[in-house]
Amino acid sequence: MTEHRTNEVPKLHEVFANQFRIGAAVNPRTLVTQKDLLTRHFNSLTAENEMKFVSVHPEEDRYTFEDADRLMAFAKENGMAVRGHTLVWHNQTPNWVFENRSGGAADRETLLARMKSHIGEVAGRYKGSIYAWDVVNEAVSDSGEEILRPSKWLDIAGEDFIAKAFEYAHEADPDALLFYNDYNESVPAKRDKIYSLVKSLKERDVPIHGIGLQAHWGLEHPTLDHIREAIERYASLGVKLHMTELDVSVFAHEDRRTDLAAPTTEMLERQAERYGAFFKLFKEYSEHITSVTFWGAADDYTWLNDFPVRGRRNWPFLFDAQHQPKASFQSVLEAAR
Ligand code: GLA
Repeated sequence: MTEHRTNEVPKLHEVFANQFRIGAAVNPRTLVTQKDLLTRHFNSLTAENEMKFVSVHPEEDRYTFEDADRLMAFAKENGMAVRGHTLVWHNQTPNWVFENRSGGAADRETLLARMKSHIGEVAGRYKGSIYAWDVVNEAVSDSGEEILRPSKWLDIAGEDFIAKAFEYAHEADPDALLFYNDYNESVPAKRDKIYSLVKSLKERDVPIHGIGLQAHWGLEHPTLDHIREAIERYASLGVKLHMTELDVSVFAHEDRRTDLAAPTTEMLERQAERYGAFFKLFKEYSEHITSVTFWGAADDYTWLNDFPVRGRRNWPFLFDAQHQPKASFQSVLEAAR
């Protein structure tokens, strides 16, 4: 009977077929537990962790592609696209990448050579099957005057580690669309830094084709005006925009309460309003926005359980823990009309 209900509602990816792809981040578990939901409503997949540096390249001479390959096979069987995530990041990257044989810092040439061979191997393996890559993730600083956040990539290789990553990715798969991806992308101060970074890459003819707006959003923040301004500013660079990690937390950042076993009615109503408004905006800018990926698929699994508050659940998606459509799903459908 539940299944019957699920099968009656329109398929999300069909509803937006003329605007953008609808994606979900998955992991080896959710590929099994959410299989029906994924294949019904989504036409693009992203690996939550399984294509990150630490997952595929734990030691210099050892690559581990089993989980990533399984995701690729699932996508192929079900006719889905794949967005690759992510080639260069300061997190989830093993220490060996930055070290020399005696445990000190590697030199610039060594680090860039390792970056090149990593990107060549990973993007090369999935050449032609991954249509877009997050090449560099989260390199921009959230606060202060500096554009780039401190990282080992920056310390050792200098600012042009970013341009190098894009060049290597383009060599490895000349047809893949290459993205710079970041969070707090709609916060004006950080937005302007992301804009400047991408502008300077474009001016230097670095092969970059898009900006990924992670879109980890909440019930109040960012405001619609700030989201709209971010979209317009990024689009003015003539690049494609992907929403790459969309979820709508029901808790404000400062909210630390852990007593809720289920979302309140107000939370679900407000979340539905927000989702409706977001998709109206995405539709309005669909000339620029070509993909909208959620960072998960349904409320039975989200990285926001236990983060940033341990022992707390969250309910950030359009489908509930039983994979049934929520009010948020209905208001996204309405936004499509
Ligand atoms: C960032 C990364 C993602 C993921 C989330 C948390 O947004 O880009 O890969 O790690 O954090 O799940």
